[in-house]
This record gives sequence, C-alpha cells and structure tokens, in this order.
Amino acid sequence: MSYSAKIGPSILSSDLSQLGDECKRMMECGADYLHLDVMDGHFVPNITFGHPMVECLRTAVGPDPFFDMHMMVSRPEQWVKPMAAAGASQYTFHLEATTNPGNLIKEIRESGMKVGLAIKPGTTVEELAPWAGQIDMALVMTVEPGFGGQKFMEDMMPKVSWLRSQFPSLDIEVDGGVGPNSIHKCAEAGANMIVSGSAVVSSDDPRSVIALLKNVVMEAIQKRSLDR
Ligand code: DX5
Ligand code: ZN
Repeated sequence: MSYSAKIGPSILSSDLSQLGDECKRMMECGADYLHLDVMDGHFVPNITFGHPMVECLRTAVGPDPFFDMHMMVSRPEQWVKPMAAAGASQYTFHLEATTNPGNLIKEIRESGMKVGLAIKPGTTVEELAPWAGQIDMALVMTVEPGFGGQKFMEDMMPKVSWLRSQFPSLDIEVDGGVGPNSIHKCAEAGANMIVSGSAVVSSDDPRSVIALLKNVVMEAIQKRSLDR
C-alpha cells in the first residue's frame, strides 16, 4: 500500500487579507499540504484568486509546502503553464470542465506538476475511472463546489469505496464539509487525502483538529492493510 494519510487545510475560510500568514500557520500546525481553491465565477458561482496570488504565497511560505491547486474553472487548459510558473505542485482540474482530459493530463505532467482529477457530486465515478491510471490523485467532491462551510454529503462515500477497491494505491481526496464529525466515514471508505476548510481554519486549536483527522485516517489505513 503506497498511500499515506495527509491533511490539507483549505484556506478559503481564513482571513483572506492574511493568506501568507494563514498558510504558514497551517503548516506550523501540522498540515501535510495546502489545498488552494481557485474559482472563476463561471465554472462555480464564486470568485477567489489566480496564479499571481499563488506566486506570492509561494514566496511567502518557501519552496517546501505542497500546493494542491483545486481548479474550479472553465477551460482549465489555460492556466496550466501560469500555475506551474507560479509554484503550484499539483494541478487538480474538474472532469466536467474539459472535453479532452487526456491531453490536459499530458500538459500538466509536461509542465512538471502532479495531476489531480476532480468530480462534482453529480458526476459518476465510472466517468473518472478511465483516467485513474494516468493521474496522481482523484478528488471526490463531498459538496457542490463553490463555497466553504457546506454540509458533508455522505452519499458520496460509495464513490470513494469503489475507487479504493479498484485502485488500491491511488491517492483519493475528499473535499467539502469534512471535519471531526465526518472524517470517520471518509477514512472507512478509503480516502487518504483530506481537505478541511472551516473545521480546521475556524477552530481555536487547528493543531488538535489536524492531528485528530490524521489519526482517524492512519488507523483506517492500518486496518485495511491488516484485513488484506
Ligand atoms: C469548496 C471548496 C472547498 C472548501 C472546503 O468548493 O472546494 O475546498 O473550501 O471548505 P469546508 O471544509 O469548510 O467545506
Ligand atoms: Zn477545494
């Protein structure tokens, strides 16, 4: 089993005027990576930031933190090179946003980033499956993308379980409404990369929340390896 438990705070719900400091704070509190939500007001009904912000964040936090770019944008092809140049580590695009995922996967790799492929709640996991062998990470959205602080959709868990059964070593990420109340479901289903926004960022004690989420996922991974 080649995957491990990783917690990636989404800084969408933090004080956006202090993003550099917020990113540093999350890393100091034990985050394994940072999940950065890019929204274009077209693919989703909200706007956040683009590659100029990512470049500033990279300068602020230094070369080490892994930036998982969650690209909630139409025409994701157009930001591959700018994001790579800005210091993005992984480019996670939405299957719904492109007609040629194979080509996009190739372009992302050629630009030196890892590849993530995301599906919205209405997209079946069978539609993602043909690409699973070519990507580094599958993202199963557990809310409709666009806003932080929404309710976790437990009915997405069969997608995670199916992916885990078919692709035992794939990194599988969940995003939306994930926190201490929903982490057990995600971990049992087989998710190993955990995005958590409001539950971590708005907590008085982010370090403890990150540690709790990570422990639950680590225990589930351990249990799965013993069951095999
Ligand atoms: C939603 C974003 C999420 C969001 C998660 O469209 O993709 O990353 O920030 O925030 P919570 O954990 O508060 O749902
Ligand atoms: Zn996200």
